[in-house]
Amino acid sequence: MSITVPSLLLLLFLAILLPDDACGAADIPEDITAEFSVRLYQHLQARDSQDNIIFSPLSVAMALGMVELGAHGDTLQEIRQALGFGQLVPGLEFSLLQNLTSALSQDKAQYVVRFANSLYLQQGASFSPEFVHLIRKYFRAHVDTVDFNQSAAVAQLINHWVENHTESKIRELLSPDDFSSVTRLTLVNAVYFRGSWKNQFRPENTRSFSFSRDDGSEVQTQMMYQQGDFSYGEFSDGSQEAGGVYQVLEMPYAGEDMSMMIVLPRQEVPLATLEPIIKAPLLEEWANNVKRQKVEVYLPK
Ligand SMILES: *[C@@H]1O[C@H](CO)[C@@H](O)[C@H](O)[C@H]1NC(C)=O
Ligand SMILES: *[C@@H]1O[C@H](CO)[C@@H](O)[C@H](O)[C@H]1NC(C)=O
Ligand SMILES: *[C@@H]1O[C@H](CO)[C@@H](O)[C@H](O)[C@H]1NC(C)=O
Repeated sequence: MSITVPSLLLLLFLAILLPDDACGAADIPEDITAEFSVRLYQHLQARDSQDNIIFSPLSVAMALGMVELGAHGDTLQEIRQALGFGQLVPGLEFSLLQNLTSALSQDKAQYVVRFANSLYLQQGASFSPEFVHLIRKYFRAHVDTVDFNQSAAVAQLINHWVENHTESKIRELLSPDDFSSVTRLTLVNAVYFRGSWKNQFRPENTRSFSFSRDDGSEVQTQMMYQQGDFSYGEFSDGSQEAGGVYQVLEMPYAGEDMSMMIVLPRQEVPLATLEPIIKAPLLEEWANNVKRQKVEVYLPK
C-alpha cells in the first residue's frame, strides 16, 4: 500500500488532460503537444516561480495557430518553431489542431470540453478574405466587425462573448485599455472544461491538515480524502537523498478519457529542484509506468 501523506505536501499540479484513443484523437503526435506544453510550463515557471500556474497548452496553441494563419516569412517560421510544428508539412498543423479540438469537444455524457475562438476586425479596414475564411474553417471562429475606437463597447462585447463560452467562469477578461486607435484586429480563445472524478471524494472525509509550502512554512488547509485503486508510481529524480523518490498519481475523470496527473516531491525537496527534470519524454514515462494499486489520497480542496 502506498500512502500520499498530507504533511509532506509541496504539490506540483500538472493538470495534464490525456486524451486517449477512445477520443478519436489518436493521430495527434503526442510528442509535439507534450514538448510544447513542457517548454511553455518551464517559461511560465521561470517568470513567476512563486505563483500557482494554470494554463492550457492547447488553448495557447490554438490562439497562436490563428495568428500563424495570417503570418508570413520569419514570423511564420518563428511561430511554427515555437509550437513545435517545424518538422510537419507546412499547413498540416491547422488540420491537426482542428481534428484534435473536434475530437475533444465531442458530446460526452461524463464531461464537457469546449473551445471557442473569435476574431474581431476593425470596421472599414480591409483583411484578406482567405485569412478570414481559413480562420472560420480550421478554428470555427466567430467573426465580427467592431470599432476599436469605441473601446469600452468593444471590451464589453468581447467580455460577454467570453463569459458566454466559459459558463460565466471568466468575466472581465479585457479592459478598454487593451485597445487603442491603432488596434485593427483581436483574436480571442476560450476553453472550458468540466469533469467529475471517476472516484468521488466524500464531503464528510474532508478535514483540515497542514500543508508545507515551498518556503518551509505550513498552512492549515482543507484536504479531501479517499482510499481507492489508482494508477500510482514512485520515480527517482536522480538525487541521493532518500533515494530521490517522488510520487506520481493519475486520477481519472468519469468516462476515463481524461485524467489528471499529480506529482508530489518529497517534503524536504523544493518544487524548484524537481521542475528542471520535467521533460516531454518523462511525461510519457510517468503515464506508461504508473500501476494500479491501493492508494490513500489526500488532496487540497
Ligand atoms: C483530420 O481528420 C480528417 C478526417 O477524419 C482526415 O482526413 C485528416 O487526415 C486528418 N488530418 C490530420 C492532419 O491528421
Ligand atoms: C450570450 O448569450 C446570450 C444567450 O444565449 C445571447 O443572447 C447573447 O447574444 C450572447 N452574447 C454574446 C456577446 O455572445
Ligand atoms: C479612431 O480615432 C482616431 C482619433 O480620434 C482617428 O484618428 C481614427 O481615424 C479613428 N479610427 C477609426 C477606424 O475610426
